Amino acid sequence: MAGQMTTTVLDAALHLDEAIQKGAALLAQGELVVFPTETVYGLGADALNQNAVEKIFLAKGRPQDNPLIVHVWDKNQVFLLAHNVNEMAIKLMDAFWPGPLSLILERSELVPDVVSAGLPSVAVRMPDHNIALRLIQKAGVPVAAPSANTSGKPSPTLASHVLQDLGGKVPLIIDGGACRVGVESTVVDVRGEVPIVLRPGGITPAMIQEVAGSVLVDENVHKKMHEHAECPSPGMKYKHYSPDATVKVFMGEKKDVEKKINSMYYLIKQNGGKPIIFCADDCAALYAGKQIMQLGKSSEQVAATLYRCLREADAMGMDAILFHAKEEMGLAVLNRIIRAAGENPEGRI
Ligand code: TXA
Ligand code: MG
Repeated sequence: MAGQMTTTVLDAALHLDEAIQKGAALLAQGELVVFPTETVYGLGADALNQNAVEKIFLAKGRPQDNPLIVHVWDKNQVFLLAHNVNEMAIKLMDAFWPGPLSLILERSELVPDVVSAGLPSVAVRMPDHNIALRLIQKAGVPVAAPSANTSGKPSPTLASHVLQDLGGKVPLIIDGGACRVGVESTVVDVRGEVPIVLRPGGITPAMIQEVAGSVLVDENVHKKMHEHAECPSPGMKYKHYSPDATVKVFMGEKKDVEKKINSMYYLIKQNGGKPIIFCADDCAALYAGKQIMQLGKSSEQVAATLYRCLREADAMGMDAILFHAKEEMGLAVLNRIIRAAGENPEGRI
């Protein structure tokens, strides 16, 4: 097949220096490199090289109108990539970088159109991961990187997920083990007086409020977007994070959810389907004897296991994921799972 190449996977635990050297050289040559971050694996290219960035869209099958996040290793790089970096932006950088927070700023002319899908803004973040930081520093350029999955699939939190999706399409994957946070960074527009959360992630609105004094959460975070609707962050309108299995989300009174999930489970089984129930540890007892996937106790644990479990359900050949959701799972997880449900949120109560 045209465009197929050999993909090398380098285990950073064994070959860190070689991985950084090779990765940096490839980036400098305008090639793609997959690297670990604290959130999910990123598919990186030199953000200042239009040709290189175009390869990202091709490898992922990503819609051209969905802009990328530019990764930096040093705060000073931000001032080259963006104009009018205000006090609020600097406050948030100081509080949360390196970390899972992407800031939307005014784009400078240094950043090619293709990075920002033609928008006048640019998303920037400094990842809290030693391998990512060393790679970006060594490459000597800011690195544009979306999650390293095929567009529409759950983001990869293990190198094996990347290989599944992008094997043969990228020259190098740096394997840094499991990603700590497990969901993508919080995206915040900091161009106005009050920061606006466009995508929830590991840095919560409450954490931002504490530093910024106030915070807004875009209404689209809570609901499913219509494919062609106008929206402030183009990524929000796509059915995202989806496994092959149908996802149905149930949320509400514990007893009601239990009843609904159990009856749906039997209905699917009666029709010859393979259902699996996803829930937090404290709800596992409700579904004794059924096929379940326990996601963990805290919201952090659930976030860290979610994407791996979605991929595992597919690998097990499951047809339907019945998701017992609750507020305590946090905005980031709820947002992702409602998106994974895509066109099938009718189970939500
Ligand atoms: O944690 C992360 O952010 C990971 C790792 C690799 O850093 N990256 C990631 O990138 O999730 P991606 O491309 O999968 O998601 C980027 C999101 C999209 O929803 C996109 O629409 C939004 O950020 N975004 C990027 N630039 C934007 C901009 N200028 N204005 C509004 N939204 C933007
Ligand atoms: Mg993504």
